[in-house]
Amino acid sequence: MFRLFAVTQPGLEPVLQAELRGLGLLPEQEGNNPTAGILKEDAGGVAFEARPEGLYLANLHLRTASRILVRLGEFGAQGFEELRKKAARLYWEQYLLPGQQVAFRVTCHKSRLYHSDAVAREILTAVNTRLNPACISAKYTEDAENPPTLIVVRIVRDVCSISVDSSGAALHRRGYRLETAKAPLRETLAAAMLLASGWDARSPLLDPFCGSGTIPIEAAMLARRMAPGRNRDFSFFHWPGFNASLWQKVLNSARAAEVADCAPILASDRDEGAVRITQANAERACVVGSIAVTHAAVSNIAPPAGGGWVVSNPPYGERISRNADLRNLYTRLGDVLRERCPGWQVSLLCEDSILAGHTRLRFAPPLPLVNGGLRVGLFSATVPEEHN
Ligand SMILES: C[S@@+](CC[C@H](N)C(=O)[O-])C[C@H]1O[C@@H](n2cnc3c(N)ncnc32)[C@H](O)[C@@H]1O
Repeated sequence: MFRLFAVTQPGLEPVLQAELRGLGLLPEQEGNNPTAGILKEDAGGVAFEARPEGLYLANLHLRTASRILVRLGEFGAQGFEELRKKAARLYWEQYLLPGQQVAFRVTCHKSRLYHSDAVAREILTAVNTRLNPACISAKYTEDAENPPTLIVVRIVRDVCSISVDSSGAALHRRGYRLETAKAPLRETLAAAMLLASGWDARSPLLDPFCGSGTIPIEAAMLARRMAPGRNRDFSFFHWPGFNASLWQKVLNSARAAEVADCAPILASDRDEGAVRITQANAERACVVGSIAVTHAAVSNIAPPAGGGWVVSNPPYGERISRNADLRNLYTRLGDVLRERCPGWQVSLLCEDSILAGHTRLRFAPPLPLVNGGLRVGLFSATVPEEHN
């Protein structure tokens, strides 16, 4: 059994928990509290236990996790020698190959060991007592295609826990988004918006500010039950104990569950380049036939009759010029939705409630999120049926 931790951005733990339940990797929820079972120390992720099949399923299917860590060990350590000796007892050779590059992410709180670089050096020494040729310390970049294997070390009140990453490149790297328009969303955040919006994956879905197409592409993959990791590889492929036939079985059954048809998904943008990029990205994601992409300003959108969901990331804040008259854009968006989408559900990622308020929609308290280092919220409302 592995002790695992699925990492996500703070705020998304309940969405990730629901995904893990859907995969049978967490027990069904007790009671109505969506945050029940999220421990304080779990902020930024969800802990669970699984056999190798569960580890493979989590990496392949989770849409809102950024990586899956495997807990190697936990022990008390008050000095460097104790840290090095105890770390050298862990089974590093099950997760690392001799001579490979590794990167450390070390945090120390309220502990005698507080110098994170020195902690990383001691642990590398411990790793290399078990591996020959020695592993090499390298710099980690979140968006890299082939990052070094990440080793996560937390020392809290003199108790050290050590985990190793099983994913490799972060899980938002689905492999389809080679081109981006202005201010693209992380794929994991787009998926989280869709899941948190309550979209039923059968009703029409509209993104009138589609940019690079991240939201409509994630929507099509969700509705067609396409596993986000179906076209990429993972760090655990290189572990000595990797069970290739079990992985193939997990992948084959994910592929067999895919469906060809899905709800109407509509994407538009006033920028011609964004429309072209959305189409190219959708093609790479194998969902180009599932998304109707049009070149249109929000004033000219033509949603289908009946109900549906608008899930979108209109321009806001620092990443897109503040000189643009954003207030007018949000006012216009609200007018268009009342006129053409009565009764639809709306979820908008926006920086502040004042800007969102210009739509004159009655939003529920927003779900707090972070996008590109900026605190934002997912503002959800039902468009009133009556035009007023
Ligand atoms: C924040 S970006 C969307 C990013 C997108 N979610 C992604 O992941 O790439 C906002 C988009 O709104 C578009 N936009 C701005 N004003 C618009 C308008 N009036 N009508 C339609 N699209 C507009 C911009 O061209 C830009 O692509």
